[in-house]
Amino acid sequence: MAGQQFHDGQVDARIVRREEVARDHVELILESPALARAVPGQFAHILTPGMLRRPVSFSRIEPDSGRVGLLFQVVGEGTAWLANCQEGERLDILGPLGHGFAPPDPSRPWCLVGGGVGIPPLYSAAAQWRESAPDVIIGARTREWVLMQKDFEQLGLGVRVTTDDGSWGQAGTVIGPLQEWLEGHADGQVFSCGPTPMLAAVASACRGRAAAQVALEQRMGCGIGACLACVVPARGQTQMEYRRVCTEGPVFLAEELIW
Ligand SMILES: Cc1cc2nc3c(=O)[nH]c(=O)nc-3n(C[C@H](O)[C@H](O)[C@H](O)COP(=O)(O)OP(=O)(O)OC[C@H]3O[C@@H](n4cnc5c(N)ncnc54)[C@H](O)[C@@H]3O)c2cc1C
Ligand code: FES
Repeated sequence: MAGQQFHDGQVDARIVRREEVARDHVELILESPALARAVPGQFAHILTPGMLRRPVSFSRIEPDSGRVGLLFQVVGEGTAWLANCQEGERLDILGPLGHGFAPPDPSRPWCLVGGGVGIPPLYSAAAQWRESAPDVIIGARTREWVLMQKDFEQLGLGVRVTTDDGSWGQAGTVIGPLQEWLEGHADGQVFSCGPTPMLAAVASACRGRAAAQVALEQRMGCGIGACLACVVPARGQTQMEYRRVCTEGPVFLAEELIW
């Protein structure tokens, strides 16, 4: 759905930095000019030995230095293996894969709405299209899981933070601040990534009021369109159709999907 996308094959990428950025969250910075041609919203499909590859979005895309970032939460065996990788080691990656975000129209206001591990790909979008200065709304369950707030602020962007338990920023979800933003900005554009229930609420809030692009983080198998493990229901011309998140997404127009 977006503009130009780069698709490379198999890439051997060296880890140049490893940082524990929050409890159970690690960011790896990789050196790979091929991956650094990615569009925000595209993802890396990472070989984790003895398992299916694991998909992770790019948190940073720096074509000038030929580096990218992967910021992930440790939730199971694959991400635990990845979190144990050290500087100097190399990763076997398929990518960049999928369709990323279409660039924002710089003449219209835009807003990034992210939840949990959906925040990192939005940071790469903010950094790439920083001239048109988006507003940023990010949410997490609790204070220690708020990701990349300082990174957004270092871009000079205003950031509103929500936590489910009220331990940082405003108590509640990102939907409250999003509703306020929609009321104050006609003809806006919303870019969002996060858990599916949050994206469904974003899609509902934006319906008829703003154009929304959403990046799904669906469970995946092959990552290249062959196994159909990742399909989601979408509106076809005359009837429901299935779309593959790995190749036709992970970024979709919110109105295109059946929530
Ligand atoms: C396009 C895409 C981009 C992604 N980007 C990121 C990212 O930037 N950062 C990040 O932390 N994660 C991201 N994910 C999710 C990440 O791929 C999974 O967390 C990872 O594959 C889990 O592997 P595991 O072996 O550690 O856990 P598993 O052992 O496979 O699973 C552990 C637990 O997590 C659940 N789980 C696994 N995958 C998902 C998923 N996709 N959605 C919801 N629950 C899941 C399982 O049901 C299980 O309860 C992305 C997923 C996709 C499809
Ligand atoms: S993960 Fe195999 S078709 Fe999408």
